[in-house]
Amino acid sequence: MAAVVSVINLKGGVGKTTTTVAVAQMLAGPFGRRVLVVDLDPQTNATVMLMGERAWAAQNAAGLTVAHLFRDALSGGGRFDLRRAILPGVGGVGEVDGLALLPSSLELIEIQEQLSSMPRGEFYAANPVEILRHALQPVLHEFDWVLVDCPPSLGIVTFNGLRMSRGYVMPTIPDVLSTYGVPQIMRRVRMFGDAFDTRIEPLGIVVNKYRAQSTVHNAQLHALVAASPAPIFRTIVPESNDVAGAAEFRPVSTLRQKWGARTYEAYRDLTAEILQRVEYGA
Ligand SMILES: Nc1ncnc2c1ncn2[C@@H]1O[C@H](COP(=O)(O)OP(=O)(O)OP(=O)(O)O)[C@@H](O)[C@H]1O
Ligand SMILES: [Mg+2]
Repeated sequence: MAAVVSVINLKGGVGKTTTTVAVAQMLAGPFGRRVLVVDLDPQTNATVMLMGERAWAAQNAAGLTVAHLFRDALSGGGRFDLRRAILPGVGGVGEVDGLALLPSSLELIEIQEQLSSMPRGEFYAANPVEILRHALQPVLHEFDWVLVDCPPSLGIVTFNGLRMSRGYVMPTIPDVLSTYGVPQIMRRVRMFGDAFDTRIEPLGIVVNKYRAQSTVHNAQLHALVAASPAPIFRTIVPESNDVAGAAEFRPVSTLRQKWGARTYEAYRDLTAEILQRVEYGA
């Protein structure tokens, strides 16, 4: 069964999508795992990074996105073709095969609202936070890892991701506003897990966009390490211009070309840490 991990933070722009895509590519590339990325964000950033805008438009028009999965569930289910919606071989990096994507859609915005007023069914058997878990159950054995890129909120859609996850990773920028609220998010996730008698493990905080020359970044990093409510990954991802380039869907041969040498090494090391924590419990 796949290890399912969500990438979350209430704060926008801290690197959730970048972390999801980079770690997924490292897992599928150098670490040779079979990986599925699930894009739960109506902003569709991970989707566009991994398949490009043109291919996404066709997929969206064909009704083969996570938004259509939710819509189908809301209308009783049974018509959504999950196997056609999951696209194999995405990312456009020659040396990486084994990376698949369940794309998102802008239409997820409206569906989010409908989910909160979904009829609960007889004996409250239908729960809107269980939709994704139930839908993906039949394909989980086909992957070693599922990474879920979540929107910057802790709403019903993010909870769908967390519900099927054994743990979560939280990217943050080491500044005051970005690290503010981390304990509250962790508490909320713990309470959510408790409601289902499951543990959703805080795998760790990823310090991202770190600037070594910044006094604020260094002070905040220090404060995080001293009093973090969650483990912090040893690997720190520096701020780098290469990351903006990597967001563009442009076929390349290697991950080093895609991310640039320094960022490649950071994400490879971070991925090794995540693997270690999840597959070996270390
Ligand atoms: N290490 C980095 N160095 C430089 N730029 C970065 C780095 N990580 C992310 N970025 C850039 O910062 C922006 C936000 O990153 P990203 O989209 O990954 O954040 P996010 O948390 O997913 O945002 P949202 O909350 O909107 O989903 C993007 O333009 C991305 O290219
Ligand atoms: Mg994002």
